[in-house]
Amino acid sequence: MKLLIKNGHLLDPISKIDRQMDILIENGCIQELGEKLEIEDAIQIDASGKIVCPGFIDLHVHLREPGFEYKEDIASGTRAAAAGGFTTVCCMPNTDPVIDNAAVANFVRERALLSGVIHVLPIGCITRQQEGELLSPMAELVAAGCVGVSDDGKPVMNARIMRNALDYAKMFPLPVMVHCEDENLSWEGQMHEGYYSTLYGLRGIPTLAEETMIARDLMLAEYTGAHLHICHVSTAGSVQLIRAAKQKGVAVTCEVTPHHLTLTDEIVGDYDPDTKVNPPLRSQKHLDALLEGLQDGTIDCIATDHAPHHWEDKDCEYNMAAFGISGLETAVAVLMDRLVRSGKLELAELVRFFTSAPARILGLAPPVLAAGAAADLTIIDPDIEKKVDPKNFYSKGKNNPYKGMHLKGWPWMTIVDGEIIAHDGKIQV
Ligand code: DOR
Ligand code: ZN
Ligand code: ZN
Repeated sequence: MKLLIKNGHLLDPISKIDRQMDILIENGCIQELGEKLEIEDAIQIDASGKIVCPGFIDLHVHLREPGFEYKEDIASGTRAAAAGGFTTVCCMPNTDPVIDNAAVANFVRERALLSGVIHVLPIGCITRQQEGELLSPMAELVAAGCVGVSDDGKPVMNARIMRNALDYAKMFPLPVMVHCEDENLSWEGQMHEGYYSTLYGLRGIPTLAEETMIARDLMLAEYTGAHLHICHVSTAGSVQLIRAAKQKGVAVTCEVTPHHLTLTDEIVGDYDPDTKVNPPLRSQKHLDALLEGLQDGTIDCIATDHAPHHWEDKDCEYNMAAFGISGLETAVAVLMDRLVRSGKLELAELVRFFTSAPARILGLAPPVLAAGAAADLTIIDPDIEKKVDPKNFYSKGKNNPYKGMHLKGWPWMTIVDGEIIAHDGKIQV
């Protein structure tokens, strides 16, 4: 099957294309880029007014399978990802069983081939059972296709174990993707510690819980020379610590989520558990610092930390609710509406944060718009406006704090290996 995408505005920071061109796709690959291409036997897609980008990668997603299929599974989570404009996701290992051996990693990859609709790359555990005590068999995890290690959901509290994990991961090399939280400082916290936690009467999670752990891990990364990747950076102090470490040459990368960039702790006032997430939504000063970190290169990429939960885990008192936001289906629209449209973030930068930046962190070849490259494409319609309605999500997790909001600028088409997987928010396969 030949697919001819006509009249789209191509935007690829790697091959430095930023203009209207046509793309011919055949046999899962990009065959040709050019102007006014006419191919007789091709299916034509009119992409006038749309932005055609290399396929988006989300390197931090919770797909919940195996073990928590009532929250999400690989079939539903990859459909949510495709509807949200992603062609590749990396899935976190806090499943049941956890991904701490080759059998589970292979299971995830095989399930993804059978029931998934986009590329899935598993992340293995840092420690066995994510218990923070014994290192996982990283060589085995790499051989089974894991692209990083993480105990996400939990910090590695023991600094000696963390040091050993960095030393070990460096051999492969694998990024060590850390959830930085000192559990003694965040103890029983429900939201960001500050003015609103006092006003709302909820126990706070101080910025210190994140920052002291980041400071420790940066020192360990400097000492070992290993690649540290810091997940979901959420505070101004964290950005400052990472900026200083990068200036010293420490091999650190980091990510920020759409929700930490666009929502403040003030909205917790409705006591809606869909605003409960870890790390918590912070105050405006932190949002400003995160944006500055993105703009000056301190923050490397954007990732959703898609954390779907069953309604029963969220339909309860705030302090009983699970932490997490089901974010795959709103991530691109949130960033288009709140940051790109207001001029705070260049569209080309947004594309880079979801393509070559995560690829570089994972040690993968960057997705590009070029003849011969795999035909993984994300096409955005910057003009379409829609209301967020989690009832229409492909994700089983309806826990999304943007519900009811009108957002402008949505993913329009997701193409994986030359096949149209999603169109206008609807799965096509
Ligand atoms: O909000 C969160 N949810 N933060 C995490 O670190 C884990 C995640 C989950 O697995 O639900
Ligand atoms: Zn986490
Ligand atoms: Zn996570």
